[in-house]
Amino acid sequence: LGTRFAIVGAGKVGRALALLLARTGYEFLGAASRSLASARAACEFAGSGRAVADPSELTSAADLVLITTPDDAIGPTCRVLATAGAFRSGAIVAHCSGALPSTVLEDARPLGVYIGSLHPLQTFATAEQAVRSMPGAYCAIEGDPEAVAVLEEIAAAIGARSFRIRTEDKALYHAAAVMACNYLVALEDAAARLAVAAGVEPAQALPALLPMVRTTVDNLGRLGAGLSLTGPIARGDVQTVRLHLDALAARTPHLVPLYKALGRQALALAPSGGTLRNEEATELMRLLE
Ligand SMILES: NC(=O)c1ccc[n+]([C@@H]2O[C@H](COP(=O)([O-])OP(=O)(O)OC[C@H]3O[C@@H](n4cnc5c(N)ncnc54)[C@H](OP(=O)(O)O)[C@@H]3O)[C@@H](O)[C@H]2O)c1
Repeated sequence: LGTRFAIVGAGKVGRALALLLARTGYEFLGAASRSLASARAACEFAGSGRAVADPSELTSAADLVLITTPDDAIGPTCRVLATAGAFRSGAIVAHCSGALPSTVLEDARPLGVYIGSLHPLQTFATAEQAVRSMPGAYCAIEGDPEAVAVLEEIAAAIGARSFRIRTEDKALYHAAAVMACNYLVALEDAAARLAVAAGVEPAQALPALLPMVRTTVDNLGRLGAGLSLTGPIARGDVQTVRLHLDALAARTPHLVPLYKALGRQALALAPSGGTLRNEEATELMRLLE
């Protein structure tokens, strides 16, 4: 506490972190962004801090610099600031990207800073929603030990939980996040399109699926993956899967590979929860290959 921090990149994550950290007693020096308007909006949002056009005015005084630009701008932004000598020796410089390692901040190292990353495992559509859902999220943290210690402290301060990840594993870790979040969206969209192909009103397709989706996600939390898997693969209803594949091949052949790939994944999971027998599993595997 008492840590003076600055935000570079005043978007959804930057604004939310500014507000949450300022609320818990960290001193928000202010924000810089591509546009001064966004920097101002961030300071207004956080209720403190100074909006500046030149980030080095803030970063050179900060104990903690959070670079919350889009991923592609993190490295270049850090390089410009490092070249200008705009980090204090001993400061922590961190970003919030899921896929990128802390080493994209390496240009700052010669100035004696510690680099790290903190990725909140949550989806943020707006800064307001980020303020609501960051507390309670898990944050993946990696970097120099000095940076990791501070990032763990700020995660705890905003009410988030954290775990460590190896720097070299960030891309793989982020693939998990993308599958769990973005691909769930893509999957539900594909399911809704199938429902529409089967004659369900387009406006009703997604709303009709969502209560089931919510229960499934809820079951995952309470029971784990094995016991949450219901349906024909968990039961070993070979004939039902055959009917699906025939209907998909006839009407929506482009969805057959997706159906089969996820079917094989479900099959690998089925023995841990369902009533699937060996012969049925073998037959299902043959159908889903
Ligand atoms: N949103 C999520 O769900 C989520 C979740 C976890 C982690 N993250 C990570 O958080 C970081 C920020 O994401 P976000 O969703 O907050 O993005 P965002 O809302 O698009 O905000 C990015 C901000 O960076 C500013 N910016 C762009 N280029 C810049 C540059 N060269 N220099 C300075 N500022 C620049 C933009 O500026 P102007 O407004 O000034 O034009 C924008 O306000 C990313 O690393 C992302 O991977 C996002």
